[in-house]
Amino acid sequence: MSAEIKTRRRTSRDIRLMKNQTPIVVLTAYTAPMARMLDEHVDVLLVGDSLGMVVYGMDTTLAVSLDMMIAHGQAVMRGSKKSLVIIDLPFASYQESKEQAFRACARVMAETGAGGVKLEGGVEMAETVRFLAERGIPVMGHVGLKPQSVNAIGGFRAQGRSDEEAAQVMRDAKAIAEAGAFSLVIEGTVEPVARAVTEAIAIPTIGIGASPVCDGQVLVTEDILGLAGDISPKFVKRFASLAKDVEKAAATYAEEVRARTFPGPEHCYPVPATPLPTARSGR
Ligand code: KIV
Repeated sequence: MSAEIKTRRRTSRDIRLMKNQTPIVVLTAYTAPMARMLDEHVDVLLVGDSLGMVVYGMDTTLAVSLDMMIAHGQAVMRGSKKSLVIIDLPFASYQESKEQAFRACARVMAETGAGGVKLEGGVEMAETVRFLAERGIPVMGHVGLKPQSVNAIGGFRAQGRSDEEAAQVMRDAKAIAEAGAFSLVIEGTVEPVARAVTEAIAIPTIGIGASPVCDGQVLVTEDILGLAGDISPKFVKRFASLAKDVEKAAATYAEEVRARTFPGPEHCYPVPATPLPTARSGR
């Protein structure tokens, strides 16, 4: 990566040019403090609609609204300086028509200042992706396991295991790449299919549960930090166990408050040397 790119915010073009050069590092972020901590280390911060499940405790991503995505997108933009920020279009904000998709993108781009959007879908969304790309919206596609279609595909299950599924993932990937997307998330897809797609299309693939053959990797940050509960998908690697630290800190705080050892003198405002005027003398 050139010295110039290291000092300015990355663009979708920078990410597209990383194919066949260097692996692309993507993590999700939903808040300004998390964005601040990750910014130095990643190429892309994805404000994923996974925030519905991770932050709001929903069972799926389907109830996430465009307003929620915009609010979190603004927070992540405030907390970051270098990463390309991509914001997920939530369910029902873009599938109806290409015009509806453009209106959603226009709000996201204008109200957050983010560098692009991500949307789920394959062949059926290609016309929309082309419409957006031709109008200046950088689009990251998302094929394979598409969480917004969880009801139609019968749950969160890996894709590409049958010949038919493998052919569908390939058709979807090619359609989205040819429509003008700058990169493509491949989720929950078996390695041979992820490899074939990565070799077949000109834009970088970003894998999540799609093996190391992809041009980059994305994970949900709370998953890698051990903040997302005990059960995690097979493709997640925990790089820390922060939930334990949080619980320990909360327990120690509670203990000290109950024992009146917190706050200590060092946490209290000093009393001024000259006595404060009393209500009577202050008149
Ligand atoms: O919503 C999300 O966080 C995502 C990634 C996990 C790819 O779509």
